[in-house]
Amino acid sequence: MKLMVVGGGGREHAIIKKLRENPAVEVIYALPGNGGMANDAVCVPIKATDLPAIRDFAVEHRIDFAVVAPDDPLVLGCADLLEEAGIPVFGPKKNAAVIEGSKVFAKELMRKYGIPTAEYQVFTRLDAALDYVRTAPMPAVVKADGLALGKGVIIAQTCEEAEAAVRSMMEDKVFGESGSRVVIEEFLTGPEVSVLSFTDGETLVPMVSSMDHKRALDGDKGPNTGGMGTVAPNPYYTDEIARVCMDTIFLPTIRAMKAEGREFRGCLYFGLMLTPKGPKVIEYNCRFGDPETQVVLPLLDTDLLTVMQAVQAGRLRELDIRWKKASACCVVLASAGYPKKYQTGYPITLPPTGENDKIYIAGAKLDGETLLTGGGRVLGAVSVRKTLRQAVDAAYDLASHIHFENACCRRDIGQRALAALGEER
Ligand code: AMP
Ligand code: GLY
Repeated sequence: MKLMVVGGGGREHAIIKKLRENPAVEVIYALPGNGGMANDAVCVPIKATDLPAIRDFAVEHRIDFAVVAPDDPLVLGCADLLEEAGIPVFGPKKNAAVIEGSKVFAKELMRKYGIPTAEYQVFTRLDAALDYVRTAPMPAVVKADGLALGKGVIIAQTCEEAEAAVRSMMEDKVFGESGSRVVIEEFLTGPEVSVLSFTDGETLVPMVSSMDHKRALDGDKGPNTGGMGTVAPNPYYTDEIARVCMDTIFLPTIRAMKAEGREFRGCLYFGLMLTPKGPKVIEYNCRFGDPETQVVLPLLDTDLLTVMQAVQAGRLRELDIRWKKASACCVVLASAGYPKKYQTGYPITLPPTGENDKIYIAGAKLDGETLLTGGGRVLGAVSVRKTLRQAVDAAYDLASHIHFENACCRRDIGQRALAALGEER
């Protein structure tokens, strides 16, 4: 079979490596991929948002199955275009991807169908939003409606900060049109859990839970990033909480989407907060999380292509999806300075890896035979072991054998999870 994966980061590398485990796969094209994937996929220099070029490539190369991984092509309708061209595709259609593409849509869906989430108000006018934040309880969370590369969320401690956040989004348009509507919501507290799921719109199978580390610096300090590391499973996510989430959040969400005529087929990501009043939705994503995927997929014990084909065909109910009874840890190695200014173009040396260790490349380019750094987040060092403690130690050991100039990483990935297990150092 000839496969195509749209996207080019660490998440896509993890998806590609997992898909390759199926012996029927002859070739995987990555659009655009990155230089670090060249051993696993044929990288094609087509941007993930160039929808007509993606469709033409798929038709020309007689792609048997496509996976659209990032949010922007999904929100733009990449899955619709491929399907219209007769290419089976894993990923929701545009009218379902809106669950991530518009925070206003997601909040209104949750309100209408009684799905637990933070209380909120929507504003389309600057003066009304400013009036509101002057007397609103603080902290408050100000969110731009549309996609903003994960940066459109500001937690305001004071009314002045909230006012500045509203002005930056609605007046200065720092997130472009994404900020022409804003959601202002109640500040929630509690451990955060990411739950990715496979769903064909009827059946929903949660994947192993995970924990992201979004801030740049140890101790969850510093600016938000795309994610500096992950562990799975997330120890806060007990079987009991999983049952509550299934009944009050997961199934109600896919039923709500179906009732709205927006059947969701693909990976639906639930960003949850385990509040004192129970689990609540912080955000939905219409795709695999990054770097959650890098710890979740190595724990999948069922063939990924088979699962994706079942999702696409609406046959998910027929599958028995299995997970390894193990833990995984991903330590992201970034270019010093990320998420702000950083330098690239440094040679990367990679150690050989065993079966239970993986290196997923996120930002790199090939210069002849030499792999050079090419992004803020350069790669993820991932280890799978019997216990979380062993996985964390092994991932840091693996990371210590990877070298490039200006490399930096958080030193405390997994520590919060270990503390929850009563195992901190
Ligand atoms: P998002 O981009 O929606 O994932 O939000 C980024 C981060 O902001 C989340 O991971 C949370 O840590 C935080 N956040 C978002 N909404 C809330 C909320 N209502 N209360 C507290 N923290 C929040
Ligand atoms: N790791 C969070 C996300 O993918 O949005």
